Amino acid sequence: MIKIDLSNLLQDSIGHNGLTKEDFNNVRRTALNDLLNQEQYPENAFLTLPDAASAENTSAVKELGRYAGGFDNLILLGIGGSALGPRSILEALRPFHNLRGRPRVFIYDNVDPLTLKNILELVDLGRTVINVITKSGSTAETMASFMILWQQMKDQSLKPEEHLIITTDPAKGNLRKIVNDYGLRSLPVPPGVGGRYSVLSPVGLFPAETIGIDSDALLKGARDIHSSCMNPDIWQNPAYLAASGLYLLQQTRNRDITVIIPYADRLKAFSEWFCQLWAESLGKDGKGLTPYPSTGTTDQHSQLQLWMEGPQDKVVVFLAVEDYGTDINVASVFEDMEGLNYLAGHTLTELIKTEQEASEIALSKNGRPSLTITVPGIDAYHLGQLFHFFELVTAITGILIGINPFNQPGVEEGKNLTYGMMGKKGYEDKKKEFMEYRTKHVKFML
Ligand code: PA5
Repeated sequence: MIKIDLSNLLQDSIGHNGLTKEDFNNVRRTALNDLLNQEQYPENAFLTLPDAASAENTSAVKELGRYAGGFDNLILLGIGGSALGPRSILEALRPFHNLRGRPRVFIYDNVDPLTLKNILELVDLGRTVINVITKSGSTAETMASFMILWQQMKDQSLKPEEHLIITTDPAKGNLRKIVNDYGLRSLPVPPGVGGRYSVLSPVGLFPAETIGIDSDALLKGARDIHSSCMNPDIWQNPAYLAASGLYLLQQTRNRDITVIIPYADRLKAFSEWFCQLWAESLGKDGKGLTPYPSTGTTDQHSQLQLWMEGPQDKVVVFLAVEDYGTDINVASVFEDMEGLNYLAGHTLTELIKTEQEASEIALSKNGRPSLTITVPGIDAYHLGQLFHFFELVTAITGILIGINPFNQPGVEEGKNLTYGMMGKKGYEDKKKEFMEYRTKHVKFML
């Protein structure tokens, strides 16, 4: 199991900037019950994914994974939770996959035209399966990319029903209608599961299976951490404790920024996934915590100075790795050079682990709080634990803060203005607003 060490949040370790056990005792205890209340939070269905998804959905994702696995390329179209979840699975469990595995995976989200041009130059569409992931079936970026590829398939006389696998709402939306009209292969985004909480649904499990990652292991990991995070005794509940610590440090010490720093390249994409989850879930009603992605020793040489001596506004969440699955000895060369010979005889695992711990100690000595989550190894089982654990921490933190962690009203305005400008019916007033802003807005530019 992953281990959570909260010592460096406490006054005993970091002095007056830290929390006392009494602080934890005073945190509202009802957030977990609230989260479990489906009437209060109808979008809490991510809680059931480790169980419910396993029986029914993994047989479907496995079957389609086998089918897609026969192609040379998988292009995944999706954005937000629909892209970040699959990307973090791919990068954690199959690093450098495209250089040595098949099907090669291309995740296209940002609608940068040059990226799509490059992907299309690299793949033979006839040997490509396209997974379109959008719960709503209306997201402009995903649907525009889908429409382009649909036309390309038509131009090449390819049959959409052979090349497309659609992951969308089981009953509603444009894409479900297209699935039904054209008899396309499809998977459901289960009702009540929001995009950023969907990685353990077919959204993440299908691409995982396609490249040979065992979706059952991801779910088993999530299931195992789920039970400990349901413990009503908060002192025995790692998700409640982590959420309470981050909540308390914000409320009582103005620590609004949550730095996440995995000591593994393979968890870089995971930290981006976390940042979306944390930002979009918590930032609303003038409240929230700001996520800040970073990576191991790379950011020790880039950001650590700021965390050590800059504003007292951060909590650092270390993701430490117990077993990297491999190790490399530092060679015994330059033995006469005192500045270098201390490294010989050590291994890279020793070095990276020592650096992680050294940063933790340095921050602690300087009265800067941190939290350390240690993952025994980066495999499907423990990645499933990490996903589910952070989803629970996010949802509980949101409820403690007093916001709804499952909606995202703040992204609607930008979407609606885009719809208006792109000519979507019903959004004419948004086009007018857009145009007025362009012409009348005060300009201060060179
Ligand atoms: O977490 C969310 O709900 C969002 O980030 C969505 O994943 C994103 O907006 C894409 O939405 P959809 O799946 O409807 O295309």
